[in-house]
Amino acid sequence: MARTIVFVNQKGGVGKTTTAINLGAYLAILGKRTLLVDFDPQANLTSGVGGNGEGRGVYEVLSGSLPVREAIIRTKIDRLALLPSSIDLSGATVELVDRDDRNLYLKRALAEVVPDYDYILIDCPPSLGVLTLNGLMAADEVLIPLQCEYFALEGLSLILKTIELVQKSMNQRLKIGGIVFTMYDSRTKLAQDVVQQVSEYFKDRVFRTIIPRNVRLSEAPSHGLPVALYDPNCIGARSYESLAKELVARVEGGPAVQAPAAKAKKPSGQGSLFAKASRIDQDVRTAEGK
Ligand SMILES: Nc1ncnc2c1ncn2[C@@H]1O[C@H](COP(=O)(O)OP(=O)(O)OP(=O)(O)O)[C@@H](O)[C@H]1O
Ligand SMILES: [Mg+2]
Repeated sequence: MARTIVFVNQKGGVGKTTTAINLGAYLAILGKRTLLVDFDPQANLTSGVGGNGEGRGVYEVLSGSLPVREAIIRTKIDRLALLPSSIDLSGATVELVDRDDRNLYLKRALAEVVPDYDYILIDCPPSLGVLTLNGLMAADEVLIPLQCEYFALEGLSLILKTIELVQKSMNQRLKIGGIVFTMYDSRTKLAQDVVQQVSEYFKDRVFRTIIPRNVRLSEAPSHGLPVALYDPNCIGARSYESLAKELVARVEGGPAVQAPAAKAKKPSGQGSLFAKASRIDQDVRTAEGK
């Protein structure tokens, strides 16, 4: 049975799609049967792996007019499949709103193919609306890509509250799989502080692999390629490869992977960043029922 991981952050442009594409690509390269589910009407994931975002896909599957196996397409990487999206998916937000089972559509749609894969990665839009709730209901764990900047911390509490709500209401098995720092710029002190303080509170739920800001990662989607095919030697590619190994080690056990760890420094005091992290810590405890 596949491990289903949903990428959630209501903040836009933090690296959800980039992480889903490149983590998925390296999982497939490591030999894992992987399905990428584009659950965002922007269809960035679809175009990022070479799809055109115009064909039939996840919306038609949700609406019952297309069997899920017929909607899934191959990509340029062996073992990496895609359930594509298109702008049509934005219609689902309106159509589902009055239905009691509105948050269960994606889970039902994927149920049939869960045994076919080792990993299913669901990319969500930048909101905590009905599409993201569908993603959370369908998943075993949430992965939160976090940009290393101050506003990222403000959004974190809201994500944790939403996860808690889903855990309490309908998906008790949902876990916080981890936080991945993205677009890290080691030259800025703020980035270092965010990494250090979030790591202090989330401890082993923070992935040790930190994704740096790397222009090759932003160029790759314009060629419809994961970075593993576009420029496998760049630092962005090597970071996502390391993240994939770290994820596999976490999920399946095995040796810990050497990854660039955040530089440990003592907190500088009760500044605003530190206070924010304390409130987040409280939210984590609540989300975990402690
Ligand atoms: N590590 C990185 N280095 C440089 N650019 C990056 C990196 N990660 C992502 N980007 C670029 O930043 C932009 C936003 O990334 P991405 O689309 O993955 O974020 P997102 O969270 O999925 O956005 P949205 O909320 O709109 O779905 C894109 O142009 C992407 O190419
Ligand atoms: Mg996206």
